[in-house]
Amino acid sequence: MKKVLIAMLVMVIVGSFAFAGGSNESAGSAAAAETAAPVRNADKPVVFYNRQPSDPVSGEIDMTTMNWNDSTFYVGFDAAGGGAVQGQLIVDYLATADPAVIDRNGDGIIGYVLCIGDVGHNDSRARTEGIRKALGTWNGSTDPGSVQEGSANVGGTTMKVVELEGRAMTGTDGSTWNANAATDAMSGWATRFGNQIDMVVSNNDGMAMGCLQASNYPAGVPIFGYDANADAIEAIGAGTLTGTVSQNVDAQAAGTLQVLRNLLDGLTGEDVWTKGITEPDQYGNQISAEMVYLPETKALLAQNTGVNSSNWTQYTEGTRDAGIKQTDAPTKRVLLTVYNSADNFLSSSYVPALRYYAPLMNIDLNIVQGDGQNEGSCLDRFTNTSNYDAFAINMVRTNSGADYLSRLQY
Ligand code: BGC
Ligand code: CA
Repeated sequence: MKKVLIAMLVMVIVGSFAFAGGSNESAGSAAAAETAAPVRNADKPVVFYNRQPSDPVSGEIDMTTMNWNDSTFYVGFDAAGGGAVQGQLIVDYLATADPAVIDRNGDGIIGYVLCIGDVGHNDSRARTEGIRKALGTWNGSTDPGSVQEGSANVGGTTMKVVELEGRAMTGTDGSTWNANAATDAMSGWATRFGNQIDMVVSNNDGMAMGCLQASNYPAGVPIFGYDANADAIEAIGAGTLTGTVSQNVDAQAAGTLQVLRNLLDGLTGEDVWTKGITEPDQYGNQISAEMVYLPETKALLAQNTGVNSSNWTQYTEGTRDAGIKQTDAPTKRVLLTVYNSADNFLSSSYVPALRYYAPLMNIDLNIVQGDGQNEGSCLDRFTNTSNYDAFAINMVRTNSGADYLSRLQY
């Protein structure tokens, strides 16, 4: 009984102290002199997700940002592996296609157009590379238009492959991966290239679905996306989209929250990226899908799988990870940014997954969504940081890590 009373007393003290820390930092530090020190913002967990801190031109990982503190990690998916999966999906499709059907103008060349997305984003770059390498059009650069003539096995015949045009899809508002820009581009391509277009490839589903929206989309021309968003999976079922790649959004969203949970529970070292991931965590939870940890970049990555008419039913909505169940973990507050509220993948796949898993882990998320073009649309609301226990960051530009971290200095 005595123990219970003491525990309750401690909880009351800690509770009021946390409150003081949240609303008024100086009151918090005064109290700190007598009781335990409050967690400084600079020591709180930070997980970057979906947009890996990196140089938008060279793609080099921003290790200064990643080494901000011992509790800074990136959670994403194997981008390079995913590009290869997408390339293979396309190559496999061509291998069983009928040259007489797919080569619409019968010139012996497979002509394709490419929606690149965001030229300054590692995921986009990895897909451009994977696709071009698979089709032989890779000439060492992910830039739009930087290609060579390729070749592929089409139904047993080797045919030339030509990238007719590749374009970064920037919206009129400056946002990237823009689906409307893809609709406009597709209608321009259909007019300009006509039946030279035998195939459409897109670095995400949002832009692929955008292409299918073009009123002059050449009916029946195979088209590939990436992400396995619900509408894309449905389109595969309906036969309008040929294939996509799942980057396993459930593993990523649950992984982002799991790493935060582990850090908030005081786990250190490899427990941070193994508990709940490769082995059960402190609550008996474990993400079912495989995730790989890369210590050199502090990155925890989900794996990719190709999706087409043979397996799309396994990817329909509502397939949440049964390995994550309700916990009795202490409630913690996390401020999470989303670079663009209009991004199809984040808004239709990632955020719903976060909203599903966060309450199970007793993580109280405050989600701030930006406009995809001005860093300020997220950064200006990355405030009142002392009110939160941890942070999850998705930046507009992948080299803005320092701007967010500078708000966590004190
Ligand atoms: C997704 C894209 C999305 C982007 C946002 C990528 O991993 O595949 O669909 O637009 O992340 O940062
Ligand atoms: Ca042709």
